[in-house]
Amino acid sequence: MVAAGETVCVTGAAGFIGSWLIMRLLEHGYMVRATVRDPGNMKKVKHLLDLPNAENNLTLWKADLTQEGSFDEAIHGCSGVFHVATPMDFDSKDPENEVIKPTINGMLDIMKACAKAKTVRRLVFTSSAGTVNVEEVQKPVYDESCWSDLDFVRSKKMTGWMYFVSKTLTEKAAWKFAAENNIDFISIIPTLVVGPFIMPTMPPSLITALSPLTRTESHYSIIKQVQFVHLDDLCMSHIYLFEHPKAKGRYICSSHDATIYDIAKLINEKYPEYNVPTKFKDIDENLDRVSFSSKKLIEEGFVFKYSLEDMFVGAIETCREKGLLPASFENHSNGTC
Ligand SMILES: NC(=O)c1ccc[n+]([C@@H]2O[C@H](COP(=O)([O-])OP(=O)(O)OC[C@H]3O[C@@H](n4cnc5c(N)ncnc54)[C@H](OP(=O)(O)O)[C@@H]3O)[C@@H](O)[C@H]2O)c1
Repeated sequence: MVAAGETVCVTGAAGFIGSWLIMRLLEHGYMVRATVRDPGNMKKVKHLLDLPNAENNLTLWKADLTQEGSFDEAIHGCSGVFHVATPMDFDSKDPENEVIKPTINGMLDIMKACAKAKTVRRLVFTSSAGTVNVEEVQKPVYDESCWSDLDFVRSKKMTGWMYFVSKTLTEKAAWKFAAENNIDFISIIPTLVVGPFIMPTMPPSLITALSPLTRTESHYSIIKQVQFVHLDDLCMSHIYLFEHPKAKGRYICSSHDATIYDIAKLINEKYPEYNVPTKFKDIDENLDRVSFSSKKLIEEGFVFKYSLEDMFVGAIETCREKGLLPASFENHSNGTC
């Protein structure tokens, strides 16, 4: 359990995962220092300030992964750091300088801040399935020993390639720095995160997860064979592993495996009004599912709570409430996409 008033820092606080994690940390009695790039931008931070317990237990701190030393102040005096922030611009014109370098350098800068602070007992990094299984031929099951093939990623340049490179190089650099500087570091590897959310704009992962619904064809390759975790399960796993004395190394956090056809079927059954396609050009209908094993996390005692239906219903209902999805797509026919 948390020592009363324990202070932790969360980077990427305003985002999809950061904001939900902060909500849960506040509920658990933590004092939270939330880092954002622009604390004065009420459109981006109001949902944090409105959280229960935020008035007394949440503070906003300005920090940017591209500005060396900018996390020092927020991390100084914290007992834990959750590094969630990452640049996620799949359309970047300069991916090396806008995505890859800031992600790696920002991670190392945060690790230096942890080392300087001398109060941080554990640093938890939100890694990505993109560090694990991006390779030419899919294995039936992935575990924490697997790493993506960056030569393949850089040669293929598929949608999101710069993100896969950035997360893989960042996690590898972090393991090296942690070993050399004796930092208690763990990484959590979520697969595609779906669920209800509190941020005001469309979360990047829902652009991908709901791509059959919105007909965003460029993202179909990412969810052809895909794995999912509910946002709440993911955030609770972050807190669980931060508090678990024996946590060590990498942890896959994933509860369901599916293909794009499973997703289309699920959405069509719950929301026929969106006329989601039932066939996808160039994607074999008999594709095998590819599994991400959360055995290590489950053996530490973590229990997943949510179904795939909970994830998609939660996400779609929240998008509708926030006006991010129309109530139906009347003009779309239910054919091949
Ligand atoms: N969602 C998923 O399906 C998924 C799956 C696997 C892993 N992950 C990992 O989970 C983490 C959070 O993702 P998310 O889905 O919550 O995405 P998100 O909503 O886009 O949140 C990312 C946050 O990173 C911040 N950020 C971007 N560039 C920054 C910079 N240069 N300096 C400081 N902060 C910066 C943004 O902050 P501002 O508010 O200041 O713009 C944003 O709030 C990422 O590390 C991602 O790799 C996500």
